[in-house]
Amino acid sequence: MLQEYFPVSHEFRATEHLVLCQGDALEELKKLPDESFKLIVSSPPYNLGKAYEKQVCLEKYLDWQKTIIQEMFRVTAHDGSIVWQVGNYIDSGEVFPLDIYFYPIFKELGMRLRNRIVWHFDHGLHASKRFSGRYEVLLWFTKSDIYTFNLDAVRVPSKYPGKLHYKGSKAGQPSGNPLGKNPSDYWKILCQEWENGMIEIPNVKSNHPEKTAHPCQFPVELIERCVLALTNEGDWVLDPFGGVGSSVIAAIKQNRRGMMIERDTIFSALAEERINQFQSGLLKIRPIGKPIHQPSGREKVAQIPAQWLLQNKGTLL
Ligand SMILES: C[S@@+](CC[C@H](N)C(=O)[O-])C[C@H]1O[C@@H](n2cnc3c(N)ncnc32)[C@H](O)[C@@H]1O
Repeated sequence: MLQEYFPVSHEFRATEHLVLCQGDALEELKKLPDESFKLIVSSPPYNLGKAYEKQVCLEKYLDWQKTIIQEMFRVTAHDGSIVWQVGNYIDSGEVFPLDIYFYPIFKELGMRLRNRIVWHFDHGLHASKRFSGRYEVLLWFTKSDIYTFNLDAVRVPSKYPGKLHYKGSKAGQPSGNPLGKNPSDYWKILCQEWENGMIEIPNVKSNHPEKTAHPCQFPVELIERCVLALTNEGDWVLDPFGGVGSSVIAAIKQNRRGMMIERDTIFSALAEERINQFQSGLLKIRPIGKPIHQPSGREKVAQIPAQWLLQNKGTLL
């Protein structure tokens, strides 16, 4: 089905639907009106020295992030949320889990943590001096105790929908919710969502239909779940480190308004192209909740190489 086509504006106005601002996050945030966004969702640079960031010491990085979070807090609606998706900062092989460092910054502003969501994925670098990292974290904070949470919009099928109350006045009646169960704070990529009731969102690697030139792109469905749960139709969603526009696409896909800020001209141009492709029905997106491919065991890549079997005299399982 074709989406309604909205032109991309480059300056925020509450009456727009789509805003793409090419510039510095802090400078652009300062121009935005108070309390205008229902959801701010982003993955900031992790200070890892990627092509789009200059690595500095952890204290300096956090001081910079703090100034941004203060502005984000100002522009978040009274009943709004901030979802901050982070992994680890790594220095000389030592791991610094960024959510631990970010938590006090949000807390000092009076924000309340509602969930620390673990997003697990099965692919990534294979470490040799520690266990390979296979999850990142989404910190979900609300600005006050009044906030939007549309649980029914993101329920997942129950594992045992046929379970019945076994005693009391409801004995014999189904004990679950006909719309499915709460997806929990563990969003896992493993087997079929319809079977295990967990949210499964693969990270965007080269064989993912959404892959662009961006090194660490959000899967649209990861943000779509936040958009569905934490905002209502017509609400504004903002991503201050917008990359190639995944959050804005998730917002407009679900009939919300979307704004992003991105400093890099190439990523901004890619974002605009993807947003327009999406609106024309031409962008390839992994559908929300689509089961992840499970190898049957018969594929060549799922089998133990013959050389290993010989080397180990057939002792490998
Ligand atoms: C972790 S990536 C986010 C990717 C994004 N979630 C997506 O799906 O494409 C961080 C982004 O922040 C941008 N960035 C870094 N410093 C910035 C700044 N000061 N202002 C605005 N954007 C910045 C980078 O160019 C990069 O695209």
